[in-house]
Amino acid sequence: MLARAIHAALSLMPPEFSHQLGLKLLRAARPVRVADGRLRVRTRFGELSNPIGLAAGFDKTGAHLTGLAKMGFGYLVAGTFTREPREGNRKPRLVRLRDERALLNAMGFPNPGIEVGLRNLRKSGRSLPPVVVSVSGLKLEDIVYCYSRSQELASAIEVNVSSPNTPALREYLKGSAFKDLCHAVASVKKRPTYLKVPPPTQEVWDTVLSALKVWVDAGFEGVTAINTLMVRDGRLSTGFGGLSGRPLLELSMRAVSSVHGEFGDHLEVNAVGGVMTGRDVLELMLRGARTVQVYTALVYRGPYAVQELTRELVDEMNRAGYRNLEELPSFRAFGHT
Ligand SMILES: Cc1cc2nc3c(=O)[nH]c(=O)nc-3n(C[C@H](O)[C@H](O)[C@H](O)COP(=O)(O)O)c2cc1C
Repeated sequence: MLARAIHAALSLMPPEFSHQLGLKLLRAARPVRVADGRLRVRTRFGELSNPIGLAAGFDKTGAHLTGLAKMGFGYLVAGTFTREPREGNRKPRLVRLRDERALLNAMGFPNPGIEVGLRNLRKSGRSLPPVVVSVSGLKLEDIVYCYSRSQELASAIEVNVSSPNTPALREYLKGSAFKDLCHAVASVKKRPTYLKVPPPTQEVWDTVLSALKVWVDAGFEGVTAINTLMVRDGRLSTGFGGLSGRPLLELSMRAVSSVHGEFGDHLEVNAVGGVMTGRDVLELMLRGARTVQVYTALVYRGPYAVQELTRELVDEMNRAGYRNLEELPSFRAFGHT
């Protein structure tokens, strides 16, 4: 009751303020139990208690993972971290679109830098589920530096070259720039690695699929689909930003089907984008996702979001006649190992 009342109060406060306050309050929260053997999934970065992951950008410091783990996630993505600390863009840079169950953001990667991020992770202790570290940077050498440093602590790494708030980043998805990135990262690689890709719009999707072919050939394990959709909006200080939440679901569904159809078992897919219910989770998994990450759903559904999502997922599985997730045809068809 108290947690729900606090969530209701937070949702009336300015979005960035309530985000930071919510993260602090989680420290004092009691852990939610999400124990159900039917939801266990094997991934290339380990076995998870359930397939729901915290999406990148929610904890940009790595200092709140212990609190976030109490929500019941199967795994957590920390970051995105860059080599040097960044302030990010000027405020306003986060807007709630309540009726659409969506957010607009133009954060611009505010983060304390990779070294502080990793120090925070080290302090988090042992009680965490697997942690994936998200890294990025404007210079190739900076991305490789962050990647390399993260491997000591992370179960896997997510390479983010798809944020709409740093448009120059997406140049990395193209032709020889992407080959250089793959080559440089592959030469230091020790952990399963996922490429975070933008939504499947007409302008970029062919480029993304070509990049993923290079990614697979270079020996990388997977993809996280999708990042936010770039939109123009005068309420953001920059005049444009990334749309997340419900309106993205159709695009994340399409992206997962496309990647799974094209690459099958060669690429493990973490789905993200617009997931609000357990039904969305099952639908994405039936299309080939191995895990499903959430961000905006946490803002609108509150501290019990993961527990509720997993309960709804079990209900949907029962209705569809699946005793556990490993029975899903999309898992069996490709004999996932
Ligand atoms: C405020 C905000 C900040 C974000 N920051 C990052 C980030 O630093 N790195 C990243 O890869 N994705 C970032 N994302 C994108 C999310 O990880 C996710 O891909 C996107 O929000 C779609 O999922 P959702 O509809 O569940 O929110 C951010 C999203 C939001 C709303």
